[in-house]
Amino acid sequence: MSVHISAQPGEIAKIVLMSGDPLRAKYMANKYLQDAKLVSSTRNIFYYTGTYKGKAITIGASGMGCPSIGIYSYELYTEYDVESIIRIGTCGAYTSELKLFDLINVDLAASESTFAKYAWGIEGAVIPHQGNAFDIIKATAVAKGLQVNNCAIHSSDIFYRKESGTPALAVENNCLAVEMEAFALFANAKHVGKTAATLLTVSDIIPTHEFISAEEREKSLWPMMELALESAIQLI
Ligand code: HPA
Repeated sequence: MSVHISAQPGEIAKIVLMSGDPLRAKYMANKYLQDAKLVSSTRNIFYYTGTYKGKAITIGASGMGCPSIGIYSYELYTEYDVESIIRIGTCGAYTSELKLFDLINVDLAASESTFAKYAWGIEGAVIPHQGNAFDIIKATAVAKGLQVNNCAIHSSDIFYRKESGTPALAVENNCLAVEMEAFALFANAKHVGKTAATLLTVSDIIPTHEFISAEEREKSLWPMMELALESAIQLI
């Protein structure tokens, strides 16, 4: 047990797939894992452990934003001996060159967040993915014939803001899209020397206000989920 996760020692696999939404983690565990067992439900942040193609995998949730993923990923790495975390989330595209349902494998996360600096003394606004998961996802996508954008994204602390348009930090760092968690996940992985990647599905196009409807959302995330699972089993 850790402060925020109630799984017993040994009940979390070495590889964790992490969605923001606990219900998406539950859905994914039930759809893809064999013998999925609920190992933690503290605060309704569910973690399930089971097997995929015979390999042990945990699927759980991070909640929204850097503070929340900062807590869960740190406890997983340091108290449950997790080696690799692949975040699977959604993002808003800053450019209409990206389309709804496009996939992004995050190379770098740029953020105005003070998380990395004040938690670990990591300076600078940009943190890259950590370890080999990014490369495995990239190669697996090619092998599956899936088109994936390997690029920088903006991890913002802000969902609603006064100014419209792409924030300066995102422009400076060539960020094609925005989400809210990768920066803290990468910072924690860097600090503890472990592996972290982030896969995203474009759920909204900010300049055109298009978005994936609630009905479309479920099935639209399957390619990302399957790419994450196929990549995860190569990390073990
Ligand atoms: N902003 C931030 N995070 C997001 C968005 C967005 O537009 N869409 C999905 N996650």
